[in-house]
Amino acid sequence: MPEDAGATRDAARRMSTACGRPILETERLVLRELVEGDFEALCRTLQDGEAMYAYEGPFDDAEVREWLDRQLARYRDDGFGLWAAVLKESGRFVGQCGLTVQDCDGVPVVEVGYLFERAYWHRGLATEAAVACRDCAFDVLGEREVFSIIRDTNEASQTVARRNGMTPRGSFVKHYRGVRMPHIVYSITREERDRLSMRA
Ligand SMILES: CC(C)(COP(=O)(O)OP(=O)(O)OC[C@H]1O[C@@H](n2cnc3c(N)ncnc32)[C@H](O)[C@@H]1OP(=O)(O)O)[C@@H](O)C(=O)NCCC(=O)NCCS
Repeated sequence: MPEDAGATRDAARRMSTACGRPILETERLVLRELVEGDFEALCRTLQDGEAMYAYEGPFDDAEVREWLDRQLARYRDDGFGLWAAVLKESGRFVGQCGLTVQDCDGVPVVEVGYLFERAYWHRGLATEAAVACRDCAFDVLGEREVFSIIRDTNEASQTVARRNGMTPRGSFVKHYRGVRMPHIVYSITREERDRLSMRA
């Protein structure tokens, strides 16, 4: 193999691991697939005790690794998962938002999920990303109803769900990290979303 071809291939490999596949674009954000090189950026949220209070505290390195591997497996198996949210202006990784299949008291549903770095809270970024993911679930995946299943104590996340047009429909208890956690089921139907869009 000519030396140049090898160098080109290496550069291409570096590029594809540094930059995940872009999925969605909003006014201020690009949502792209997570890649191996995002481990440190993920730690900024997943190892922040304040951000992770609804998950019973910060993750250790092995739990972050598992989280990243789970998203990569979701891309492979479902075609979607939590994506990296990157500011267009600076290219900075500021959080995650995306779609995952979740167990909703025994029923598999498509959920909009979001976690942002604390330094970037209160700028409306989670809501902006969540709206784009909701619309992707309806318009690309063809879902009829989209969910966010949220721990009852997580006020910020519930505010984002309401801003995403969702309504509380019920509740059930999840057991996670050995803790009993009541969760509220928020959702929006496609018809509700269409009515919202007509009003906008
Ligand atoms: C949930 C989360 C993504 C929201 O991010 P964000 O970018 O600040 O969201 P937005 O700016 O779109 O809106 C958040 C709103 O929640 C409300 N809020 C925030 N903290 C709150 C609190 N402690 N109590 C009540 N309401 C709160 C505010 O109304 C806030 O809007 P404001 O800043 O305009 O006042 C962020 O708090 C986070 O990453 N939390 C940790 C991870 C997590 O719990 N994810 C959800 C799992 S279900």
